[in-house]
This record gives sequence, structure tokens and C-alpha cells, in this order.
Amino acid sequence: MPNPDRSRRSGSRGRRTTSDPARVAAYRTLRAITADDAYANLALAEHTTELSARDAAFATQLVSGTCRGLGLYDAIIASAGGRPLRSLQPAVVDLLRLGAHQLLELRVPSHAAVAATVELARQVLSPRVTGVVNAILRKVAALDADGWATRLRKERTDAEALLARHPQWIIEAYADLLPAAELPAMLAANNEPPVPHLVVRPRLAEVAELGGRPLRWSPFGVEASGNPGDVPAVAQGRAGVQDEGSQLVAWALARVAAPQGPWLDLCAGPGGKAALLAGLARDQGERLLASELQPHRAALVAKALVSYPDSKPMVIAADGTRPAWPANSFSRVLLDAPCTGLGALRRRPEARWRRKPADLDALVPLQHELLASAIAATAPGGVIAYATCSPHRRETSEVVEAAEGIEIIDASAVLPEIPDAARGLYLQLWPHRHGTDAMFLALLRKPAATQ
Ligand SMILES: C[S@@+](CC[C@H](N)C(=O)[O-])C[C@H]1O[C@@H](n2cnc3c(N)ncnc32)[C@H](O)[C@@H]1O
Repeated sequence: MPNPDRSRRSGSRGRRTTSDPARVAAYRTLRAITADDAYANLALAEHTTELSARDAAFATQLVSGTCRGLGLYDAIIASAGGRPLRSLQPAVVDLLRLGAHQLLELRVPSHAAVAATVELARQVLSPRVTGVVNAILRKVAALDADGWATRLRKERTDAEALLARHPQWIIEAYADLLPAAELPAMLAANNEPPVPHLVVRPRLAEVAELGGRPLRWSPFGVEASGNPGDVPAVAQGRAGVQDEGSQLVAWALARVAAPQGPWLDLCAGPGGKAALLAGLARDQGERLLASELQPHRAALVAKALVSYPDSKPMVIAADGTRPAWPANSFSRVLLDAPCTGLGALRRRPEARWRRKPADLDALVPLQHELLASAIAATAPGGVIAYATCSPHRRETSEVVEAAEGIEIIDASAVLPEIPDAARGLYLQLWPHRHGTDAMFLALLRKPAATQ
């Protein structure tokens, strides 16, 4: 493995222009994402640990921006190269993607972006590929971002979607639910990394301890003002990182009228909502059972709940479609269903190009099955919160409306302080309206008469 630092030069005139550790780390991270399906945040953490703060920030900016614009850069590279991407080595494509992002979005001067990428190719791949990298990237550099927009509009029917850095099918899913005039703002919000939100474990920490500006609607959190890990309450497990939208889902389930009795979180991993729900249940003298299919994710739930000292919430690894509990047992049930995550693209820059419409075909039947199981687990008169971090109609309202044995409660009336959040009887949050993930929430009551 070449040492990225060995070939570093001052970069002054007449000397060799070389790759720097930030670009090497960005390349390795992008390879892990595109070749091994790694999550961008985890791969970045792994590949930037030994970098200076400045280099780590640049590598993060490079990888996140390249991931968000992947479809656009691929179209540009294919057009510039005059050949399909599949005719190029995948590692070369990743180098070109990073180069295109520097040229067209970060506005790194052409000569510097091309020279740095060619040198990176030499260092991390082989001198044999420098020619093709140099040739294609020079053609990319021949036009600026506006010039490429004009050219793609002539060449491709999906040019507008690519220029908005989204696949067409995801834009269509949003357009199905939002007024047309709001769509550009929604897409732009997806292209902005969110400020992390912090959340207290109720009664284990005070919101004032967290620093930062209190959230708009959740009484449990703040906008992080620095590195969340540096906040003592977070480091001690008395608080955590959680988007305000997720906090509001837990808060709505705790607020809605329901009989006394234990609470269930049916799909709890990694435990963000369970950690808040457990404290809210405790406040009402109840206990939470947190259940999760994947044992390693159930372990994360247990870790998220570890700070509750007394009446510890219970965590089990179990398939929610094969209940490990008697029917009619719980007064409040959260089903935070496995979904496409189309409402949380801000925080997962790579996800929009990885997700495919066919994913819905696998997820939707599971969502129906889990909801039937959640309804069976709920005591008569009890409430089910069906939530997804996706607004897509097929995995939200269509799942709820096919369910039997429930009445739909007006969810936005349970959180009346949140403006523009009613989607019929459901609650629908949006990044551009609420500064949260696009969480969907349906509140469903099992009629008291149901046996
Ligand atoms: C959207 S995530 C839940 C997020 C969690 N509520 C939180 O706030 O941290 C969905 C979870 O459902 C789990 N899951 C998938 N299929 C399941 C099943 N059949 N039974 C139980 N959990 C399942 C996934 O492993 C995943 O952890």
C-alpha cells in the first residue's frame, strides 16, 4: 500500500503536484461506499481518523458532495469520455467522480483539480490509468457547471433530476405529496447536511445541560452547537443524538390518550426512539419492552437504555412478525418500520443512488405484516404509532389504510403546535418546512370492543 504522505510536495511552481492525505482518504472512502456498500458516515470515520481536522473536514466535504451528486457526475463523465461508464475500471470512475465534484461544485481551479486527481490515480491505482483520467477530466473541465447543465439538457431526458442531484423516481415520490412550488426547496434541503440534534433521556439530564439552541417543538432537545461527543451528558449516556422528527414521533405516542399498561417498541434498533420512550413511559409509571430482529442492533438498544437506573426497560431480540408476547398486551405500541429512508437523505448522502424502486416491493409486505402484528399486540383501547422515515405513499398511508381492526386518530391534532404538518389524518414532517427528516406518523387506536 503506498504511503500517501511519501509523495507530498509543496505544490509550488515546477515541482510535482501530488495528492494529499485528504484526497487519498476521500478516494478510499468512496471505494468502500461504491464497491463494498459501506455507509458513508462509517466509512468516513474509519478513513479519516488519522487526518488533521482540516484534512478530515475536506475529505468529508469531498465524499459527501460526490455521493450526493453521483448520478450527475456519472452522466457528465460518460458524456465527456464519449463512452459508457461500464467500459472504465470502477476505481477509475470513482477517481473521476471526485475530480468532477472538485471542478464543478467546489470550484477548485481546473489545473489543480486535474493534476491532483491524476497524481492520486498514480498513487492509489497505477501509472497506467493516469492517461485516461487526465484525458476525461480535462474534457470535464472544458465546461463549467452551467455549461454542463446546458449540454445535459440536450442529451438526457432525466437531466433536471440529475442536476437536482436526485434520481427521477425519488423526485416523483415527493412530487406525489408536495405542491409543485415546494419541490425545489425540498430537494435543496436534501442536499444540505443537517445540524445534529441532541435529546435528553427524560429525568436523567436537563435540556439546559446540552448547550445549544432549544428545538422548535420537541421539549427534549437542542441543536448541537459543537461535537455531540464533547457534551458530558451525551458521553455519559444521559442524552443522545436524535433528529427532532424522531423525538416528535415518540412524544406523540406518549401524549395521545391511552389506557394504563406496558409499552412496546416493536422495531427498536438502534434504540434512538426507545431511549426517549423509556423515559416517557417511566414518567407515566409504565415500562417499555424494546424488541428488535437483529441481535447486534438489539445490543445497541440495550446500550442506549443503559443509563436508566431503576425499573430497567427490557430489550429482546425477536422477529416482530412472530410475537414473543401474548396478544392484547400493550397500551402503547411503536412500529418504527423498516423503510426506504427516503425522508432521511440529508444524513445519508449515498442512499439516494443505492435505493431502487424495487426495494419497496420487498419492504411493503413486511410493513403490512409488522403492522398486523403491532395491532395484535395492542390492548383494546390502546394506540399504535406507525412511523417511517420515508414519506413514500406505498410505505405510509397505503400500509395504514390496508390495516384491519383500527381507527385512525388525527395525529397532527396530537401535536397541534407544529404548523403545516397535517397530511390528512397523518403527521408528515418535511426537511424544508420543519428542519427535520421527512418523518411520517399515523396514530391508530384499537377499538375497545376488539377481542
Ligand atoms: C427504522 S429502524 C428503527 C429505528 C429505531 N426505532 C430508532 O429510533 O432507533 C427499523 C428496525 O427494524 C428492524 N427490523 C426489520 N425487520 C424486523 C422484524 N421482522 N422484526 C423486528 N424488527 C425488525 C431493523 O433491523 C431496524 O433496526
